[in-house]
Amino acid sequence: MDWGLKNRLSRIIKPKTGRTVMLAVDHGYFLGPTSGLEVIANTVQPLLPYADSLMLTRGALRTSVPAGFDIPIVLRVSGGTSILHDDLSNEDITTSMEEAIKLNVSAVAISIFVGSAHEKETLTNLAKLVTHGEACGIPVLAVTAVGREMSRDKKYLSLCCRIAAELGAHIVKTYYCDDFREVVNTCPVPIVIAGGKKVSEKDALKLAHNAISNGAVGVDMGRNIFQSDNPVGMIQAVRAIVHKNAMVEDAYGLYKNAKK
Ligand code: R5P
Repeated sequence: MDWGLKNRLSRIIKPKTGRTVMLAVDHGYFLGPTSGLEVIANTVQPLLPYADSLMLTRGALRTSVPAGFDIPIVLRVSGGTSILHDDLSNEDITTSMEEAIKLNVSAVAISIFVGSAHEKETLTNLAKLVTHGEACGIPVLAVTAVGREMSRDKKYLSLCCRIAAELGAHIVKTYYCDDFREVVNTCPVPIVIAGGKKVSEKDALKLAHNAISNGAVGVDMGRNIFQSDNPVGMIQAVRAIVHKNAMVEDAYGLYKNAKK
């Protein structure tokens, strides 16, 4: 792995703790104006001081994040489908590596849809992105998207994560599941978890705690932060779990006591 790629990775996974709190706000690329992200800048800007990196599309980045703000960017570079279609797997690469360099991003992110109609295209797109990214010193994060017909269990998620790593992904983003430790143990690159649909703050903190306790290097969380009634309190609570190994109750106390 070359210096530039390692350096960019270290901007995302913090060397001090070996962990990361990524803030995911890329939902609009197929969901449109998701609840909580209607005006991206209003949601994102108060959270930036507490995030280790920000995952979003180029359109959101250019319009809604001040270029002077020091936040590592994970650029969503796959898309091409919308929630109006049943099959979301028909994605392609939507941004060039040249543009990723121009935007000074720390990594690019692409979804893979294992077991879906367009499995092959999404996997070969990942492999091509890795080849191109490595030539430019830019790491690739693979997101294991789960189609409606797939179950989020150890067997399926291990399959997805391992394939992503074998194709060269430098970080894998997946979902937490029972026996998550086995998913981590069989994936040779770091894993971060998505938060998934909004649940109670305490349940979201339990999810983060379980994932970290079972080997995830962090979270790439969206809705359970920006749809919270106190997003700043919530991201601070998540940070305490990820970087300080805080217990769920202590983190929940941080969320409760944080000023809205
Ligand atoms: C989904 O395709 C996007 O990558 C989201 O950013 C991801 O699912 C994480 O967000 P959430 O925590 O809301 O699930």
